Amino acid sequence: MEHINNYINENKDRFINELIDLLKIPSISADPAYSADVLNCADAVAKAMTDAGADNIEICKTAGYPIVYAEKIIDSNLPTVLVYGHYDVQPADPLELWTSGPFEPVIKKTDIHPEGAIFARGSCDDKGQFYMHVKAFELMMNTNTLPCNIKLMIEGEEEVGSENLGVFVKENKERLKCDAILISDTGIIANDTPSITTGLRGLSYMEVEVRGSNRDLHSGLYGGAVANPINILCEMIAKMKDENNQITIPGFYDNVVELSADEREDIARAPFSLDAYKKALDLSDIHGEESYTTMERNGIRPTLDVNGIWGGYTGEGAKTVIASKAYAKISMRLVPNQSDAEITDKFTKYFESLAPKSVTVKVSPHHGGEPYVSPTDIPAYLAASKAMETTYGKKPVPVKSGGSIPIVALFEKELGVKSILLGFGLDSDAIHSPNEHYGIFNYLKGIETIPHFFANYAKAH
Ligand code: BES
Ligand code: MN
Ligand code: MN
Repeated sequence: MEHINNYINENKDRFINELIDLLKIPSISADPAYSADVLNCADAVAKAMTDAGADNIEICKTAGYPIVYAEKIIDSNLPTVLVYGHYDVQPADPLELWTSGPFEPVIKKTDIHPEGAIFARGSCDDKGQFYMHVKAFELMMNTNTLPCNIKLMIEGEEEVGSENLGVFVKENKERLKCDAILISDTGIIANDTPSITTGLRGLSYMEVEVRGSNRDLHSGLYGGAVANPINILCEMIAKMKDENNQITIPGFYDNVVELSADEREDIARAPFSLDAYKKALDLSDIHGEESYTTMERNGIRPTLDVNGIWGGYTGEGAKTVIASKAYAKISMRLVPNQSDAEITDKFTKYFESLAPKSVTVKVSPHHGGEPYVSPTDIPAYLAASKAMETTYGKKPVPVKSGGSIPIVALFEKELGVKSILLGFGLDSDAIHSPNEHYGIFNYLKGIETIPHFFANYAKAH
């Protein structure tokens, strides 16, 4: 397999420069002001697939942003791997906290990335990671080593819930038919500790409104005599967790699969330092559900978090006012066997029941998704594990991640195929935060590991 490292060594500067060009496009799916950029990005992805040697490239229209699809079918008797990723990115704000422009990629060295890392929004999540697949595909094409069929599907709405991709998958089952799904949109433990993600949490995302009087009021004339929706909202939110940091929504834990002692031991075996964790986040203490470790709290336990809360006066100086309305965005991460519909329903009923008569409340669900578990004994997992063992010199540790990629559970439901979450990012790469970056080491290691996955998988199948 010498051809892999040779090809990467000869082409790595170009691989890096091509990614930098892609990162200059501000493909922010959440903000309509960037819609032309998101569309341009889809064109750039399609061009990259053409250049890499794919066939049947199509920019598939949806009710939202397009899905870029391409394939190389070499022999219908060979297995087919479907690669999924997303070319959309999170908004870049707060801009003032970036040390360089979010869409002006630059390579900087850090303690964790002595070889340098590309700083830009989307560098790790997910442009840098899906582009590894485009380059690994190019490598296999140009070295005549593509061992099986490949389908590539890169979407533009992952960061806003993948709802149109869900429709596309349901309508294109035949076209998407495959034997394994390979995704690089997660992370590894550390650059000397490879891991493969074997679980993703689901998500229920709610927005709530609490309304008091029909207009904002003078807080002296009315204060103390009528409900203050902001106070009430805070009280309601506070009631959603008890003194052990358990969620109080009735029935919330009903379907939660409790892990066995063995499974908990497995989780505890993955390398983790609480001191380093606190230090990296500048925290004097951690916080979470009683009787669970940090790794369990952010991997296998469900959560409830306020993502934003607003209302009343937040401008300069002081204004004495009782706002008419208060709002919050509240998300819950779900674990097997909770479902988005079930939790949305339980949350809504509980939130409404917490409201005193002095206010009216409105609950509206945003997007959601179901949790996902990947087995570690299927050919595709073993192919990925062996590939990492070859390129890192160490067997990867299976790890349950706290993040969500809603389409993964839908792939399983609609296509009947499991996904392998072969990600290469680090937690410290600051995805969704200012100064997101992706290590050059990680990027090139991904491009190196992927052809090994294909070779192993084609052999095992
Ligand atoms: N790539 C992330 C998910 C992720 C990151 C999983 C790291 C595991 C490790 C993805 O782009 C993402 O941000 N997902 C969202 C959900 C989506 C519906 C907005 C999330 O997890 O908040
Ligand atoms: Mn992502
Ligand atoms: Mn993301």
